[in-house]
Amino acid sequence: MLAKELERAIYNWYLTGENANPEPIFNVLADGYENELQMLVPIETPNIMLQLMGNPENLKPGDTFTAGEDIGISFRHLVVNEDGGYFIPLFTCQEEIDRGEPTSVINQPIKALFDVADSWTKCLGFVINPWGQQFVLEKDIIHMLKEYERRAFISIIRGSVLDAHVAAIVNAANTSLLGGGGVDGAIHRAAGPKLLEECRRLHGCRTGEAKSTGAYNITTADNIIHTAGPIYSGTPEDSRQLAACYLNSLEQSFENGNDSIVFPCISTGVYGYPIEEAAYIALTAIAQWLEEHEGILKNVYICCYRDEEYEAYRRLVERGDNGVR
Ligand code: APR
Repeated sequence: MLAKELERAIYNWYLTGENANPEPIFNVLADGYENELQMLVPIETPNIMLQLMGNPENLKPGDTFTAGEDIGISFRHLVVNEDGGYFIPLFTCQEEIDRGEPTSVINQPIKALFDVADSWTKCLGFVINPWGQQFVLEKDIIHMLKEYERRAFISIIRGSVLDAHVAAIVNAANTSLLGGGGVDGAIHRAAGPKLLEECRRLHGCRTGEAKSTGAYNITTADNIIHTAGPIYSGTPEDSRQLAACYLNSLEQSFENGNDSIVFPCISTGVYGYPIEEAAYIALTAIAQWLEEHEGILKNVYICCYRDEEYEAYRRLVERGDNGVR
């Protein structure tokens, strides 16, 4: 799952464009350093293996060979300058490898790679998924990652919740959970009819509550978390109910084992919640939950579909008055 989270964080980094924060990627890499994130590393096929395998036409999946002696493994290099400086390519999955030339690979925990990199004098670092959306890890970044103090990161990005690659997408639903317009309509259209079938079995949800389903045709996500925001009425109850949407959605993501989550700006569309107020309530509730659940969730994204939403969040973050980095 960590390799999937790494792909998601890199994807969202490209989605966000220039000035994107790399912290969501560092969060996953630092977690992977401690928790055995395995990467696929291309190697030069050792001669002894070529002799053992014999005629490639006779090979079939699952064949095994036992070498009578140590086979020297050497990682493939991406040479980048005339005095032989090179990067070592690392891949998160076979699909990323298949974008380039076929190669032998071995699995390596990222901790072993980070720890040995300093002993290779001409090695400049690693490139993750070099043939696709690559992410370069120079040695100074690797040194930083070994000491990196992981803490969940909140990213404010422009666009639809369907644009981000995350484990859980939050839907601004209504209490029936049977679909509607806005982001609710967009999510149901993208997920397909099986989402509505599962929602029917949930028998609705109260305002402020959150319930999870599968993501179906939204293959980049693992879950949809449906929550019903308050219809703005200008009473103090509004802010309590809106905060509950964020807190309960985060609780659901914790129960689902989601490592990343994206929120739309709940209640600020059809339900008429003033955006500036809603943004403050959202950021404060999310920051509060993350403080109370240190190290649980990694990456939180808030997708702003309209410019006024994005401006409201940017003003709040620039003012820094709600604990968000
Ligand atoms: N993708 C992502 N975000 C969207 C999209 C979309 N296609 N359409 C709207 N949004 C954004 C809006 O800009 C707003 O910031 O989602 C946020 C919430 O707006 P609404 O979707 O209107 O949701 P809300 O205000 O919470 O009202 C919920 O609307 O769609 C119905 O069934 C839903 O009855 C419920 C009510």
